[in-house]
Amino acid sequence: MDTNTIASHQFDDDTLTINWTDGHTSQFHHIWLRDNAPDNRHANGQKLVETANIPFDSKPSTVSINGTVDLTWADDGSTSRFDPAWLRHNAYEQSEVGKRRQTIQTWKAADMQTLIFHDYANMAADDVALRPMLQSVRDHGFALITNVPTELKSLFKIIDLFGYVRETNYGTLFDVQVEPNPTNLAFTSLTLTGHTDNPYRHPVPGLQLLHVLNNNVSGGDSTLADGWAAAEALRERDPAAFELLSTTPVTFKFKSDDAHLEHEASIIETNKWGEVRSIRINNRSMQAFYTAPDKMKGFYKAYQTFAHMLEANEFKITFKLDGGQAMLFDNQRILHGRIGYESGGKRHLQGCYADMDSLLSKLEVLSRK
Ligand code: OGA
Ligand code: ZN
Repeated sequence: MDTNTIASHQFDDDTLTINWTDGHTSQFHHIWLRDNAPDNRHANGQKLVETANIPFDSKPSTVSINGTVDLTWADDGSTSRFDPAWLRHNAYEQSEVGKRRQTIQTWKAADMQTLIFHDYANMAADDVALRPMLQSVRDHGFALITNVPTELKSLFKIIDLFGYVRETNYGTLFDVQVEPNPTNLAFTSLTLTGHTDNPYRHPVPGLQLLHVLNNNVSGGDSTLADGWAAAEALRERDPAAFELLSTTPVTFKFKSDDAHLEHEASIIETNKWGEVRSIRINNRSMQAFYTAPDKMKGFYKAYQTFAHMLEANEFKITFKLDGGQAMLFDNQRILHGRIGYESGGKRHLQGCYADMDSLLSKLEVLSRK
C-alpha cells in the first residue's frame, strides 16, 4: 500500500494534521513546517532561515493539497511547499525509532564460525568490493582483510579506502612488537585480555586497524568479542551488575615521558534510548577510582562477571592472522586481545586509529551510486 498518499487534512492554530490513506495520522507543528520547509534551503541543502527568528505563532491562512502540500503563511503571505513523501518520512512521531542504526547485528562466537576475509587488492580496485567490508564494520563491528602488502606503513592504504588516520601521541601509527623498555604491555609478548584501546582518551578512537606484517611465532593469535552483545546479555542475566557498570565512572590513565592522558567514564555507556553504544574496558589502564563505599564491592563483582563473560567462549572468537592480514574494528564496541607468544620467531604488527563517521560517510556515498 502507498503510505505517502494523503486521505484528508485539517489545521488549527498550532498544527497541520494529515490522515494518510493507510490509516496513519501525523501532526506537524506550523513552526516546525516553516523551519523545515525545503524552499528555505540553499541548493547545497543547508538551511537559510534563522530558526530563532521564525514567528513563533506561525500559522497558515490556507493549506491546499494537490500532489504537493502548499501552505500560505498568514503573517506575510509567503508560501511553503512539501512533498507528501518527505512529510511522511520526517513525521516526528516516528523519531524514536527513525534515527537509530537499524543495521546493527550483535553477535556471539557461534555466529562467527566462518570468518570472512575481504581482499585488499579487490577493494583497492573496485568500490563494489569495498562496500561489504565497510558494511561489516558498521553492522558486526569488525572486518578481516587479507592480501594487504607487507611493506611497512601499508595499513594507511586500507584507511585511504574510506577515511583519515587519527593521529595520537603514539604517532600516525604504532608498532606492536617486543620492545626493550615497553611503555605499554602491548609492546611485550604477554597475553592481552580483551580490551578496547585508549579509554583514557576523550573521545576514544572510534576505529582501530591492526595490520600484521609478521606472525611467525608460537602463539600470538588474535581474539575479538562483541562488547555490545555481552553487555546486552549482562543486562538480561544480572540487571544490577549492568546498572553499576553503566552508571559508575571509572578512571583510566596513561602516562609516558611525553603524555599524560586521563578520562573518567563508565565501562558501559547507553544512548538516550537505553541501547548499549560504547564499551570502555582496559585492565592495564584502569586506576583507583572514587565511588560510594557501599558500592565498591558490588562494582568489583559486576566487573568480574562482565570481564569473565567477555573472555568466555560464548562471546570470544580466536584466530591467527598471518602476515598480509589485518583487522579493522569499532573500538567502542569490539574487544580485541591476543594470546601471549614465545620469543624465538618474529611478530610485528602496525596499528593506527581512524574515525567511524568517515567510514559511515563513505558507505552512504557508495550507496548513492
Ligand atoms: C594493541 C593490541 C594486539 C596484538 O596493540 O592495541 O591490542 O595482537 N595488540 O598484538
Ligand atoms: Zn589493543
